[in-house]
Amino acid sequence: APLAPFDLVIFGGTGDLALRKLLPALFHRYADGQIVAGTRIVAIARDTQSDEDYRGRVRDALAKFANLDARESQSVEGFLSLLLYRRLDLSSDSGWPEFSAEFAGDERVRVFYLAVGPDLFGVVADRLQSHGLVSPKTRVVVEKPLGKDGVSADAINDALARVFAETQIFRIDHYLGKETVQNLTALRFGNALFEPLWKAEHIDHVQITVAETVGVESRAPYYDKSGALRDMVQNHLLQLLCLVAMEPPSSLAADAIRDEKLKVLRALRPIVNGNAAQSTVRGQYKAGAVDGTAVPGYAQELGAQSLTETFVAIKAEVKNWRWAGVPFYLRTGKRLGERVSEIVVTFRQVPHSIFEDLTDQDPSSRLQPNKLVLRLQPDEGVKLWLMNKVPGPGGLRLRHVPLDMSFAAAFGGRQADAYERLLMDVVRGNPMLFMRRDEVDAAWKWIDPIRAAWAAGAEAPRPYTAGSWGPSAAVALIERDGRTWHEDA
Ligand code: BG6
Repeated sequence: APLAPFDLVIFGGTGDLALRKLLPALFHRYADGQIVAGTRIVAIARDTQSDEDYRGRVRDALAKFANLDARESQSVEGFLSLLLYRRLDLSSDSGWPEFSAEFAGDERVRVFYLAVGPDLFGVVADRLQSHGLVSPKTRVVVEKPLGKDGVSADAINDALARVFAETQIFRIDHYLGKETVQNLTALRFGNALFEPLWKAEHIDHVQITVAETVGVESRAPYYDKSGALRDMVQNHLLQLLCLVAMEPPSSLAADAIRDEKLKVLRALRPIVNGNAAQSTVRGQYKAGAVDGTAVPGYAQELGAQSLTETFVAIKAEVKNWRWAGVPFYLRTGKRLGERVSEIVVTFRQVPHSIFEDLTDQDPSSRLQPNKLVLRLQPDEGVKLWLMNKVPGPGGLRLRHVPLDMSFAAAFGGRQADAYERLLMDVVRGNPMLFMRRDEVDAAWKWIDPIRAAWAAGAEAPRPYTAGSWGPSAAVALIERDGRTWHEDA
């Protein structure tokens, strides 16, 4: 449904996130009629340029990043007319009174998107307040990284809390806006089939993989201070883990869901100095080839030697009744062999096999466990791996084959980007897919000791060749337990 005209102000309006993700997402919502004329999208940055200059940049960005079809191309100029550019300096009050005169007021929803470094969140919040730009209908969106550890995250959250109520703060984790991630909730709680099996009694283990082929390239200066654990695990992978592991919430109310996620985070078995070597592997990519193209190593991209990890694998455990003894294997990395993100739930074997004799004659008939594979990207979809008879009049032979539901085939159309859903949720004031402060805290409480353990150990991240699946130690991490990483055959 169309949203009443609103104002969306993007600090960092000329940055990578704005041009690659936010503006294309807003454009698609406009082309679909959800954002209407009268809405103002205001980009803020430090350089001097006119609205027209800025619109030109966005026109280029849309052509590059928005995947326009013929119908949508006709909406570009209309969308650009909603865009304004204003120059503001965050370190002084100059320009702010004029800005406030133009945009203050409490009739319409006003969203401030802070696509700037976290050290500036407090500064921007204070200026917004002192210039009268915060009303009950004002919302603020903050991007990760929310600090670099629990202590700095706390300071940032305090600074935001001085100006905004918790219900006005939208901490974005774009993984929560991905279609398949939302579908996980639909599958778990909209079907009678899975929930009775969704526990240690029937599930052997869970794998969560977010593999990227990209390197860090121009983001090296940011990335080197972060590393894969903070960049991906603290937020995206832990959020996925929470959605798999949480108890059924009583409703879709934001706090009902967030309460359940929080309990999972608090039940994670701590990884500390004593068990970090057993439960974690870090790696850093060296030169290699991805998709047949030679690529440099991380240190070359950074231009310096570094101990920052670009890969991490973790064996996590959720210490509660439902999940006792069920490992959650997490792994994520840059410059891996393939871009694939998926959640794999592996069920336990049948208690007794009546097919033993078959297996002697035809080893491929060996029973394999059922697996539910949720493919986040690319080729979003769900597969349920089952044992089936090979058709034909010959003897009984079995194979492991998937029931395969591709989102594109089942629903057709364009897959909306996560930011489209999330930005509209902010305007509507629905915080369900955003992180509450206590979740962020709990996630850092689990992450910080891992980093401390790594720092205390003498080991450097293990090298892996770009284009591989990470250091061999990550394979050993799961094989020690008699399991293997899922490969979609
Ligand atoms: C971001 C990380 O949050 O997520 C990036 O900072 C990463 O390092 C990106 O590349 C991955 O997002 P997606 O949607 O491409 O899987």
